[in-house]
Amino acid sequence: MRIAARALCTLAVVATALPSVAHDHATGVVKERMDAMTQMARRNKAISQHISDKRELASIKADAEAIAALASHIVHVFPAGSTQPPTQARGAIWQNWSDFEGKARALETASRALAATNPGDPAALRIAAAAMTRTCSDCHEAYRTKK
Ligand code: HEC
Repeated sequence: MRIAARALCTLAVVATALPSVAHDHATGVVKERMDAMTQMARRNKAISQHISDKRELASIKADAEAIAALASHIVHVFPAGSTQPPTQARGAIWQNWSDFEGKARALETASRALAATNPGDPAALRIAAAAMTRTCSDCHEAYRTKK
């Protein structure tokens, strides 16, 4: 069951991967999750840009849905023991696995809420986007080491 989920997850992440120059030294699952995180960061940046420019607000839905899809795979790209350099993942992840899962789920929920927000309401979009971004930092503060 876990293996099947992991295989699906790999496909999904590869299918959405954009060329990346940032992780030349990372390999395997560490690279996979860095790429997935980078994807989410790009989407998140596009969302904030649209909100601050008040342009193409309708495109936010697709970016938020893409983040939700990636978020649902986060738990599959952190197998126990995947602490190979240059990872910034903290060992605390595997000591607090259900909390980590909860934080991944919080992102998924918040990105789905953003996708469901009325694109004609910039103030509501701003609030939903801020709530989503907070779930990114919540997890990073607990489980990602500083560079
Ligand atoms: C459930 C926890 C969790 C959530 C939620 C999460 N991240 Fe991460 N993120 C991590 C961890 C852990 C790492 C370090 C991964 C590694 O180095 O192996 C990371 C790394 C990153 C990186 C660096 C990737 C690299 O190139 O090394 C970026 C950028 C990033 N996250 C963006 C985001 C954004 C944007 C969101 C929200 C849309 C988000 N993350 C949500 C846990 C999370």
